[in-house]
Amino acid sequence: MAASGHATPRMPPARCLDLGWVGGYSLDAMKTTPDKRKPSILSGIQPTGRLTIGNYLGALRNWVALQDQYECYYVLVDLHAITVRQEPKVLRRRCYEFLALYMACGLDPATSTLFVQSHVPTHAQLSWILNCFTYMGEAQRMTQFKEKSSRHSENINIGLFDYPVLMAADILLYSADLVPVGEDQKQHLELTRNLAERFNGIYGNVFTVPEPFIPKVGARIMSLKDPTSKMSKTDEDDATYVALLDEPEAVRRKIKRAVTDAGREVVYDESRPGLANLLTIFAATAGEPIETIVGRYEGKGYGDLKKELAEAIVEFLRPVQQRYRDIIADEPGLARVLADGAARALARTRPLLARVHEALGFIPE
Ligand code: TYM
Repeated sequence: MAASGHATPRMPPARCLDLGWVGGYSLDAMKTTPDKRKPSILSGIQPTGRLTIGNYLGALRNWVALQDQYECYYVLVDLHAITVRQEPKVLRRRCYEFLALYMACGLDPATSTLFVQSHVPTHAQLSWILNCFTYMGEAQRMTQFKEKSSRHSENINIGLFDYPVLMAADILLYSADLVPVGEDQKQHLELTRNLAERFNGIYGNVFTVPEPFIPKVGARIMSLKDPTSKMSKTDEDDATYVALLDEPEAVRRKIKRAVTDAGREVVYDESRPGLANLLTIFAATAGEPIETIVGRYEGKGYGDLKKELAEAIVEFLRPVQQRYRDIIADEPGLARVLADGAARALARTRPLLARVHEALGFIPE
């Protein structure tokens, strides 16, 4: 880690690369954007709750895997986080913790631009403009909005409604070709593409229309207690997820108690969602196909699977947590990473925002 003096050994990226699914388009077609050296990526995580193995398998590991091939911008979306009430001190601390975890998972701030959204004012600026191109009906259809407004019925604010438009601004500002995310963000990506096409249809080719990059295995990790709903880092019940910073004993306990059905035989069957989820986590963590994992449990039961899965997760998390402890101890180093990241992000996005302003007929600054 150049900026703070830490060494951040990389996770082996290669095995992750074949796990991606790019919305039905060829990657080569994306490498032709005329004014750029490398194709680019933008993705983000909300600094809320505790980063889970779901966030890692759905998003972070692909961020790491893709960082050398693409010009990458990875953002902690603190503006998005305040759509739900946050404790200021906790939010600030969590931003550092998430950044340290990004780096502990293998993101290298010398290669990837790591920053917080509130440091880069162009995000909010473009978001306002995109608001004027978004229809009420489109925003109302967003399932995340519907789900969050029922969960936070005491605070259904306009920010919550507008959330996907700010996300579209995050992506379009960087002319991102690819957006590595879990499956739950697919609908937001679709809106982003629609907004880009709508704007381009009126003003010419201003925005790059981005593709989602969704892993084949791990795009939707389910809750350990209710395998029909998504594992969420903000779930109040911490037995529903494995956090990247969970102690080994906590991991063992949570996996042991994970809900499965009454069967015995280890097979991958979507009508047995608890077992299917554990097998998915195992396959994605070990970097092996699900069939290989299933094959190893012929004649064995759920108990063996759970025990070995817990150990696989513990072993996977051990070096991440070790690196994390070193990195988080250097808060000034982390602050330098963010300052450097914000400067790079601002430099990258100003010309695009100027093009948008010009297209709209604003007087140039
Ligand atoms: P957030 O913070 O909810 O989640 C961060 C990333 O983790 C993925 N993810 C999962 N993947 C697999 N299984 C799960 N159970 C699981 N839970 C979460 C998410 O799909 C996501 O990739 N709106 C975004 C943040 C955002 C963003 C952006 C993303 C803001 N601007 C621009 C991409 C590009 C969100 O709430 O992610």
